[in-house]
Amino acid sequence: MTELQNDRFLKALCREPVDMTPVWMMRQAGRYLPEYRKTRAEAGDFLTLCKTPDLACEVTMQPLRRYDLDAAILFSDILTIPDAMGLGLYFEQGEGPKFSKPITRAADIDGLFIPEMDEELGYVMAAVSVIRRELDGKVPLIGFSGSPWTLATYMVEGGGTKDFAKVKGMMYDRPDLMHKLLDKLADTVTVYLNAQIACGAQAVQIFDTWGGILTPQDYKEFSLQYMQRIVENLTKENEGRKVPSIVFTKNGHCWIEDIANIGCDAVGLDWTVDIGEVRKRVGDKVALQGNMDPTVLYAQPERIRKEVASILESYGSGNGHVFNLGHGIQQNVNPDHAGAFINAVHELSKPYHQE
Ligand code: CP3
Repeated sequence: MTELQNDRFLKALCREPVDMTPVWMMRQAGRYLPEYRKTRAEAGDFLTLCKTPDLACEVTMQPLRRYDLDAAILFSDILTIPDAMGLGLYFEQGEGPKFSKPITRAADIDGLFIPEMDEELGYVMAAVSVIRRELDGKVPLIGFSGSPWTLATYMVEGGGTKDFAKVKGMMYDRPDLMHKLLDKLADTVTVYLNAQIACGAQAVQIFDTWGGILTPQDYKEFSLQYMQRIVENLTKENEGRKVPSIVFTKNGHCWIEDIANIGCDAVGLDWTVDIGEVRKRVGDKVALQGNMDPTVLYAQPERIRKEVASILESYGSGNGHVFNLGHGIQQNVNPDHAGAFINAVHELSKPYHQE
């Protein structure tokens, strides 16, 4: 195995000293890049891109060719799991993801197919292996999954939703069914992330995009509990090195201490919190990842630098910060602005890492 040339990201997740703050962007491979749109057009559609390891590798590498990023993230989607469980994932132009066979009743949950990692999800594992080979030790590779709750919202709603009527209806009327579904998903996500780690993912992130729509009590019962079970059962070391885990609950500001207590190495933050205040709340329990508002990238480079400076200043000196956006980069962002953001993090963070 080639030695890792840049391990700033892995070190920061373990709260070890670094020379400057590492940075990557959620959704760094995507539609804001013309080269992504070209590869996608050649592939025909998004799912073909995900399911063809060489193409998934190509789009994973695209942002790394443009920017001085400190990590690569596997190009895939959180909805590969429900797709592999038999729900029939498809994307309709401009409408986001849809399932042809959503979960509507008890029998659908009993009938869920439990996928094999080297069969139905073999294309994800192949992509991880191909990307690791292509990265050749340049930067570490992040693997990922959706949280059980976030996956369940798409599976029960049959796609995206604004009101979460069906999934919340099921949660409140039939908590037994919801737990049965989440239980199956937690087992599958655990095996999925461990398979990605075995194939070469050097850190993993759980995306809990919809945990923040729950009440505090329901968040613990229907989302956090299952993420805790996953984190507890993750492979902790591979290739002689720790494999850190990051948990990102969007809109999870009230529960950051609870998340920090489940055994993950880092907590991902959206932009609705002050990172310095969060650091005081969690102490040195976990590293923090975040948290610039992704829409700041619509502003001019000078304004972007100012925002980066203010987040670095708020976090302050010392270890344990991975810079990121508070959610995915948006598709209409000018790629040069993303470059200005990444350079600003590296340049402006050096003084915060002197002994
Ligand atoms: O970060 C990366 O670069 C890795 C790739 C990645 C994608 N999706 C690619 C993608 C990751 C980590 C995801 C995660 C994901 N997918 C989440 C959790 C993170 C988040 O954003 O909250 C969710 C909720 C999904 C489900 C999903 N996939 C939706 C709702 C959509 C459509 C929304 C949209 O932006 O149009 C997708 C499609 C998708 N996944 C695209 C990409 C690049 C756009 C597809 C395209 O049109 O090319």
